[in-house]
Amino acid sequence: MSTEEAGFAISELFSLAGKTALVTGGSSGLGLTMAKGLLQNGVKVMIASRSQKKCDLALKELTPLGEVHALAVNVTEAEERERLIAALDARFGSLSILINNAGTNWGAKLADYPDQGFAKVMDTNLNAVFALTRDLIPALQQAASASDPARIINIGSMDGLHVPIVQRIPTFAYSASKAALHHLTRTLAVDLAARHITVNAVAPGFFASRMTDYVFEHYLQDIEDDCPLHRVGQPQEIVGIVVYLASAAGAYTNGTVIPVDGGTSISKGKRSWTD
Ligand SMILES: NC(=O)c1ccc[n+]([C@@H]2O[C@H](COP(=O)([O-])OP(=O)(O)OC[C@H]3O[C@@H](n4cnc5c(N)ncnc54)[C@H](OP(=O)(O)O)[C@@H]3O)[C@@H](O)[C@H]2O)c1
Repeated sequence: MSTEEAGFAISELFSLAGKTALVTGGSSGLGLTMAKGLLQNGVKVMIASRSQKKCDLALKELTPLGEVHALAVNVTEAEERERLIAALDARFGSLSILINNAGTNWGAKLADYPDQGFAKVMDTNLNAVFALTRDLIPALQQAASASDPARIINIGSMDGLHVPIVQRIPTFAYSASKAALHHLTRTLAVDLAARHITVNAVAPGFFASRMTDYVFEHYLQDIEDDCPLHRVGQPQEIVGIVVYLASAAGAYTNGTVIPVDGGTSISKGKRSWTD
């Protein structure tokens, strides 16, 4: 594409019209927010999460915004992932954007940290992402071209970049799973580039969701103190990065881990002498 041919107007540069997307964990929190953002920009969306009830509630909220489907599946179960892939094939045929967002956490002191808790977090946040991504490559490839690659966006975490201090209760598996997901992002990006599929990760800081309910209720002041911008993230700030990564503007961005955390992961403690 020559610069003469490229359109720099925002409506062209960031257009997502006509694309298709899967958002795992799209029934609540950041996933629901991203699904809304995609739908409002003309993307056909499928959301997937375990709870039928949560899928139904989300569908009610999302349906007025565009073409959306929901499937109750557990992404850690192979047969359920197969059901999801078949449903995607039936609805969309090809997949332009895969957002691996479904995630879970487990907090416990080191001596009490259970093997099954560690395994559950790794299964959801890492193993399922790898398996689902691998099995969706044909659908992604079908939507991909050199000038407009298919996009995989993995939702990592700033906790995969630094050692978290706010939670009080250690989350060993969560941090390890997200750090591994960030590096899986890089290795997949290199592997899939020849097929015109880009792979990037977003590493959010604190955003309001069911996962952060408890810490927001008890430690909001600490969260704000720990962030150079002294606040938590807002929904439009997660949608913005996803729209960028999924659009023409982000087509050459590949293998990156982008923190969206107000600078929290690169700062250490309070600096009372700054403004
Ligand atoms: N909120 C934050 O501050 C923050 C910060 C950094 C990273 N993140 C990441 O953002 C992602 C979304 O988290 P959130 O904060 O929005 O929390 P959330 O509201 O709890 O959302 C998690 C979503 O994942 C789904 N899910 C969990 N396990 C699943 C499984 N095995 N199969 C299918 N779906 C599953 C949940 O639905 P069901 O219960 O119906 O399965 C839910 O829709 C996670 O990867 C999280 O690590 C969040």
